[in-house]
Amino acid sequence: MLKLPFQMEFVVNLTHRCNMTCNMCTQYGSTFKNNTLNEMTFEEWDTFFDSIKSVSPKPQVTLMGGEPLLHKDFDKILMSATEKKLKVHIVTNGYLLRDHLDVITKSKASLSISIDGLGETHDKIRNTKGSFERSIECLKLIQKINKPKRLIRTCINYVMLPENIHEILDFAEYMWQFEPAFIGFQHLQFSSDKLDAQNNKEWVKCLKQKYTTTLKPKVTYEFNECYVEELYSKIEQLRKKYGPTKVYDFPCHHQ
Ligand SMILES: C[S@@+](CC[C@H](N)C(=O)[O-])C[C@H]1O[C@@H](n2cnc3c(N)ncnc32)[C@H](O)[C@@H]1O
Ligand code: SF4
Repeated sequence: MLKLPFQMEFVVNLTHRCNMTCNMCTQYGSTFKNNTLNEMTFEEWDTFFDSIKSVSPKPQVTLMGGEPLLHKDFDKILMSATEKKLKVHIVTNGYLLRDHLDVITKSKASLSISIDGLGETHDKIRNTKGSFERSIECLKLIQKINKPKRLIRTCINYVMLPENIHEILDFAEYMWQFEPAFIGFQHLQFSSDKLDAQNNKEWVKCLKQKYTTTLKPKVTYEFNECYVEELYSKIEQLRKKYGPTKVYDFPCHHQ
């Protein structure tokens, strides 16, 4: 058995396809639309999980994409990983989540649901009408599943953008009723050169190694000083109100 002094985390893209075209994301457009060519099959994932299951401590596997729930064998892949006692985390846009809640409950995986605003704000950022309502429906179902005992640890991931900065505080207030474990407020990446340079410095601190990217999202965001000040002031207010274990910004600009 391979023993390591730390826990490995594998962040894996089950697919590059997606059912949304979010403004801030680099994964949109025809390249990703119907292309299943680069996807690993269930059998290949099963073999991969076999190859890492004996590492100690047990690695964590984060299932991402694209939208991971679009992989045709998502349920089987999830169960294969958890049956090998790997810790699994799923990051999803929530649109197809309702149909997978049974298997996720069985698997004991934890979840991040990406929600970037209230109602129309979220739907517009994600260019997907009705997506906010679908995520809220799932949060309510998860609340039911979690009574009396928490079976699905769920957090909410919010990317901070010019389109949603005005309602960050209202968003946090509204979301607590669904009892998420925490809300992660994520700084925008891959946007303007200026913000990327700032973020990259933070990533270098976190990762302790060089970090650069050349990916570009659908929308190019430009920032002025006022926006950056407003952003920091909102994060400060959130941290004061809820504390660092309930909300945090990522990568953390507060160390
Ligand atoms: C690329 S998505 C893949 C998983 C899934 N499709 C989803 O939206 O949750 C992973 C996470 O990255 C976030 N994200 C997308 N574009 C981003 C950007 N430019 N900067 C920071 N986070 C971003 C999403 O909101 C989501 O929480
Ligand atoms: S953020 Fe997620 S849902 Fe939105 S386009 Fe990117 S991969 Fe798809």
